[in-house]
Amino acid sequence: CGIIGYCGHRPAVPVCMEGLKRLEYRGYDSAGVAFVRQGEIAVIKAPGKLSALEEALEHAGNVMNATTALAHTRWATHGAPTTGNAHPHLDAGRSIAMVHNGIIENFAELKQELLAEGLTFESDTDTEVLTKLVGWCRARTGSMREALSMALSRAEGAYAVVLLCKDRPGRLWAARKQSPLVLGLGVGENFLASDVPAFLPYTREVVFIDDGEMVIIDADRHEILDAATLAPREKTPQTITWDVQAAQKGGYKHFMLKEIFEQPKVIRDCLAGRIDHASGAVRLPEIEALPVPGRLVIVACGTSSYAGLWGKQIIEKLARVPVDVCIASEFRYADPILAPGDQVLVVSQSGETADTLAGLRLARERGVPVIGLCNVVGSSVDREADFVLHTQAGPEISVASTKAMCSQMVMLLLLALRYADAKGLLSREDRAACIEGVQAMPKLLDDHLPFMRDTAQRLARTYSEATSFLYLGRGPAWPLALEGALKLKEISYIHAEGYPAGEMKHGPIALIDPKFPTFAIALADELFGKVKSNLIEVQARGGRIIALTNPGLDLEVDHPWVLPQVFWPLAGFTALPALQLFAYEIADYLGKDVDQPRNLAKSVTVE
Ligand code: G6P
Repeated sequence: CGIIGYCGHRPAVPVCMEGLKRLEYRGYDSAGVAFVRQGEIAVIKAPGKLSALEEALEHAGNVMNATTALAHTRWATHGAPTTGNAHPHLDAGRSIAMVHNGIIENFAELKQELLAEGLTFESDTDTEVLTKLVGWCRARTGSMREALSMALSRAEGAYAVVLLCKDRPGRLWAARKQSPLVLGLGVGENFLASDVPAFLPYTREVVFIDDGEMVIIDADRHEILDAATLAPREKTPQTITWDVQAAQKGGYKHFMLKEIFEQPKVIRDCLAGRIDHASGAVRLPEIEALPVPGRLVIVACGTSSYAGLWGKQIIEKLARVPVDVCIASEFRYADPILAPGDQVLVVSQSGETADTLAGLRLARERGVPVIGLCNVVGSSVDREADFVLHTQAGPEISVASTKAMCSQMVMLLLLALRYADAKGLLSREDRAACIEGVQAMPKLLDDHLPFMRDTAQRLARTYSEATSFLYLGRGPAWPLALEGALKLKEISYIHAEGYPAGEMKHGPIALIDPKFPTFAIALADELFGKVKSNLIEVQARGGRIIALTNPGLDLEVDHPWVLPQVFWPLAGFTALPALQLFAYEIADYLGKDVDQPRNLAKSVTVE
């Protein structure tokens, strides 16, 4: 979910609506805004995308006078995406409005208590329960800060909340625990939001709020307190250096396409300062204090977990360090076996994925060193991991992740090279081939991406009627097959499965017929011959094949897609954009909502 709150001198509703647009990637199944009008709290909400709320605002009377407001874009966790369940919610006296990101886990119990006190409820949400609890506490304490503190002391789970009170129309109260909240400090105006882009056109001065903190803002002052004791806390603001332009489409039809085409830059940015010119050694000073792990346990979700699987192949091959890759939602409940000498690497673009964070915290509790590989500076992974490597992908807005995976792969390759060097396993030639190859990759991709897109466009038209796809690869190409299939299903809603090509004969082969196409990755590496035989098995059952391949390879398929040949550990950097572009072009051809696919959210901050 996305939250924004504003106190200042401008009409607050338009400021909040603009902010919500920049947060829409955090969820978009309903939205709402609240402000004080003629002494009463006005709440306007609508199910569906923000355009529905914009329309509702047109019929909502005067919304331009308020200079303080709060707003929310929701991704349903409790209760269907309806107007009733949309935020903001009100307390029983309709004098407090609240927006919330996260889940109050004991809301059913709290609701029972409030029902016993005679309160009634209008929605199915945990948020309404918390709002009413704050109202109930306020009636007993008299002050908003004490009421919020008291209510939060009863709430279990995760939250970032922002509240408005009709008695103090120019003030907002907020607090966080395990859900992101940032304070933006302007001149004569202050902001609260789930993420920095929400208010970046107005200010770059920010304070990242920590778990257990409360914030109170007016137009020209802010206070940060310990939410439990209400003792003041001093925090130094940071200046955001990246550009809001970076968070906008820059001429591309979709954010996803823009982000695919940004990958050459992403590789350049990830490599900046990482290779010692004189010795050619990889520099990762952030983890210099750590020895090469006896075993590396990678914990991640979604696309980040596929980057992890790819990293496993590369690290094990180049550096002979054993790597296990664990899906975070499994890891956190698996009572994982972590031994001395193990290190945990948490991979997350957003740095806020709830399951991944839980994995991070579990590993830290067990006393294992945790490295965070994350993209969002100031995110929870960034702040909680013992060591952090940043991926330098810049803000990723498209829900389907593209450039973040590319950036994670660069960092994992650097990690493999560092381990291999430390263990003296890498020949001079192989090291030079890797480093020179990855340094040359941005130019190679810049040259080839436009052609790749043309091919993807042609193939998308040919295959757009397929209802199911099989993606095959072996070795480091297997995780890419998984990612190719994930991209296709996420944005085009065409069913797709990724499989290790050699495993196909143990089941999926039963599905093959002329209407069930295969997308293969058959590049020039030691497994090419094996993949080729697997594809012959597909052809024998009448299956059509698209294959990513390299020049000069002996492969006869319906649609060979020839990519430039590179040193084997780098082949993924050429295959990845081809897979992304194919999914993109099919989804766009079919008229799907590429950047905001149904049912998905960019940042899954709930379990
Ligand atoms: C969500 C997104 C995916 C992403 C996954 C992990 O499901 O839709 O694109 O790969 O979360 O996100 P993270 O931010 O932890 O990499």
